Amino acid sequence: MSAPNKSYDPVEVEALKPEEIERMRDEAFAAFAAAGDLDALAQAKTAHTGGTSPLSLANREIGALPPQAKAEAGKRVGQARGAVSKALAARQAELEAERDARVLVEEAVDVTLPYDRTPAGARHPLTTIMERVADVFVAMGYEVAEGPEVEAEWFNFDALNFVPDHPARQTQDTFFVQGTTPDGKPTTGDESGIVLRTHTSPVQARTLLDREPPVYVVCPGRVYRTDELDATHTPVFHQIELLAVDEGLTMADLKGTLDHMVQALFGPEMKTRLRPNFFPFTEPSAEMDMVCYVCRGTSVGNPDRPCRTCGSEGWIELGGCGMVNPKVLIACGVDPQKYSGFAFGFGIERMLMFRHNVEDMRDMVEGDVRFTRPFGMEI
Ligand code: PHE
Repeated sequence: MSAPNKSYDPVEVEALKPEEIERMRDEAFAAFAAAGDLDALAQAKTAHTGGTSPLSLANREIGALPPQAKAEAGKRVGQARGAVSKALAARQAELEAERDARVLVEEAVDVTLPYDRTPAGARHPLTTIMERVADVFVAMGYEVAEGPEVEAEWFNFDALNFVPDHPARQTQDTFFVQGTTPDGKPTTGDESGIVLRTHTSPVQARTLLDREPPVYVVCPGRVYRTDELDATHTPVFHQIELLAVDEGLTMADLKGTLDHMVQALFGPEMKTRLRPNFFPFTEPSAEMDMVCYVCRGTSVGNPDRPCRTCGSEGWIELGGCGMVNPKVLIACGVDPQKYSGFAFGFGIERMLMFRHNVEDMRDMVEGDVRFTRPFGMEI
């Protein structure tokens, strides 16, 4: 800032000459007009109205003028600054209006567009049924145990007391897995000793070798048999297996456990019945039936109200069960003098068929979400 000077003529102070002030004002106008957006305008604002802008600096010079010159220069600078801030406000309003109009277009939401372009899937009812059944047993203190689907023949058959020429081992039931000899040649399937498990029962043997009794496990899983896929057969299906080995377990424990399971799954008035059967790994063995879920037995002897689900038998066959054969306990290193056990196993696909009236097994394997969705999102 210059020092006060009595003989000072404002027109001689370069920064306060009228044409200089006009130039500063016009430069500010031009800069505002050139600012294409609000950011650029903010920069122009600092440059032309900020503390170090030419007009602010010129304003400071006024103080150094003699009193008679102050008023005139002050008026000139003041008018220029007023015009500049008006121009700034006008441009600011203009650019804000432009931005608002652009945002309205750019951020417009078309509410008529479909909202579910990535439709949610649905859990497969086989999975939810298996989890439900497992939950019934977990609530009673059972643990979930799993085994491999590609299984040693020994676990799938030998440990379970299937004699070497048992018909179930035949290639018409069992998928044998091809192996390789030590010198890299492929072995025929039944030389490899490896199969795709035909049931979940090998998990019984694995569990008994793995843990000390008492053992209470539930084993859900996928199993394989050489069936063609048709309305009532599938080469890949699911079973759930139960094994309890403890001191003093009897057939009454098995029956009570089965009744509890069907009541928990199908309703309090449900019950089971056992019919003699044979499995190499249980002795005695039984086929287990439950009261028909649909007619609850009312169709029996009642030709006016036939039941398609149970064929008016009143009972539905659920699976196999029995007391663990002592030979299995011995093969797995458990003392049959001290411990006894029971086991049962059944197919999940069958349960899905009669529980939900699914008539064609192929619907279960095709993976069409239109089949799975109506079962709901049971977690
Ligand atoms: N594993 C037998 C089957 O697949 C079922 C079963 C399980 C029978 C446990 C008895 C005990 O048919």
